[in-house]
Amino acid sequence: PDLFGKDRRNAKGWDLTDARDLESIAQARGPWADATFVAGPLIAGTVAGGAPYDARNPARPDDLLGQVTPAAPQDVQTALAAATAWQADAATRATVLNRAADLYEQHFGAFFAILAREAGKSQLDAVGELREAVDFLRYYAGQADGLTHPARGVFTCISPWNFPLAIFTGQIAGALSAGNGVLAKPAEQTPITAHYAARLLHDAGAPRDVLQLLPGDGATVGAALTSDARVHGVAFTGSTDTAKLIQRAMADHMAPGAPLIAETGGLNAMIVDSTALPEQAVRDVLASSFQSAGQRCSALRCLYVQEDVAPEFERMLFGAMDELRLDDPWHLASDVGPVIDADAHSQIADYVAAARAEGRVLHELNAPEQGHFVAPVALRVRGIADLKREVFGPVLHIARFKASDLDRVIADVNATGYGLTFGLHTRIDGRVQHVVDRVHAGNMYVNRNQIGAIVGSQPFGGEGLSGTGPKAGGPHYLARFTGAQAQTVTR
Ligand code: SER
Repeated sequence: PDLFGKDRRNAKGWDLTDARDLESIAQARGPWADATFVAGPLIAGTVAGGAPYDARNPARPDDLLGQVTPAAPQDVQTALAAATAWQADAATRATVLNRAADLYEQHFGAFFAILAREAGKSQLDAVGELREAVDFLRYYAGQADGLTHPARGVFTCISPWNFPLAIFTGQIAGALSAGNGVLAKPAEQTPITAHYAARLLHDAGAPRDVLQLLPGDGATVGAALTSDARVHGVAFTGSTDTAKLIQRAMADHMAPGAPLIAETGGLNAMIVDSTALPEQAVRDVLASSFQSAGQRCSALRCLYVQEDVAPEFERMLFGAMDELRLDDPWHLASDVGPVIDADAHSQIADYVAAARAEGRVLHELNAPEQGHFVAPVALRVRGIADLKREVFGPVLHIARFKASDLDRVIADVNATGYGLTFGLHTRIDGRVQHVVDRVHAGNMYVNRNQIGAIVGSQPFGGEGLSGTGPKAGGPHYLARFTGAQAQTVTR
């Protein structure tokens, strides 16, 4: 297959600076503004169902999206008993995934509405999310035919709320295009997005026993789906701690060598030196740390600014922060939406309150009263070692460094043990090489922002505490979903 060349195109998307595109989005979303949705298990058998709960909009908690029926333990057993690899040939699998991509694009109005109302996604994020999901489907479909090894069997796919469509779809598309069956457990916070997408995958032709959806929590559904010998591998995106739990459960219950494909956390840094173009670096810092309200594993957490330019750079940065619009993402002009739920809100707010008590707040915006909004904030730190953990919200830490300390900064960044994204702004070519050769990170970005990896051209995934690889949206991802086989036929 032609993976990189003339035959492959990423999704075109929508141009949010074009009034016609904005109008078409507003119109297509319109019917879904206060629609109610359902979400529940989609399994090859009768659903028992757990205790239903309400799905609410994190920007407007009085906006009820609908009721979610989580999978009961019995539903997980029904799904496990029915689960099977996909017997269709590669061309058929590719046709189904490509058809699903077309359906996703046709249903953009519903997706944009659900992504705003269930996940608090700004319109920019929602466009990126839908495009990425469509790209995963088409990119992996394009590789199905070239696989030299057979499917492993059945994969459990556990996806996060921060990319409820893109990562949910990417894991499933990876497993399916290699011919595996899938047991998908979406995050508890975003089952409606997952349910809507899974139904389109079924409509496109993914058989009911090959793709099953099991919404629910980690303790009930996730644990059962990762500790059963009928499962042959797990794709997981979430915290490093949960990845370790899964790895232990797999070792106890599955065949040795059952693969875990984990994308986990990050403590990501960016270095801005005195040769950087400040306007550009400011724009890229804002996007990297505050887009998606900082709820990306790739987000910038610790910015190092060279001390010679730091006072002026920080002044510009805080001025630019003031221009960010915190608002309900239903408003197309909103730049920063809410964080995902009340728990996330209180954890981040407590963290910022502690920093405030220590006098470390450099700049902070005001958050709307209603909804789970956290105001973007910049905090002073001495270096990345002051960050004890990943704070998953719009919290930027800023340190200053001397040019002569560059190698110490790199050593501190590497010492976190994480290795997901890294950003560098410099106009010195030799410095680019010096830094990228030394920093341990899966995705390096020079003179641009450090989020939003593009399927096919920026394969995404980290090293160390940040994940196992292979990188999503890259040429090696599907191989991990297949086994190894040498065929010798004597006649
Ligand atoms: N792939 C996303 C990004 O690059 C993070 O999961 O921002």
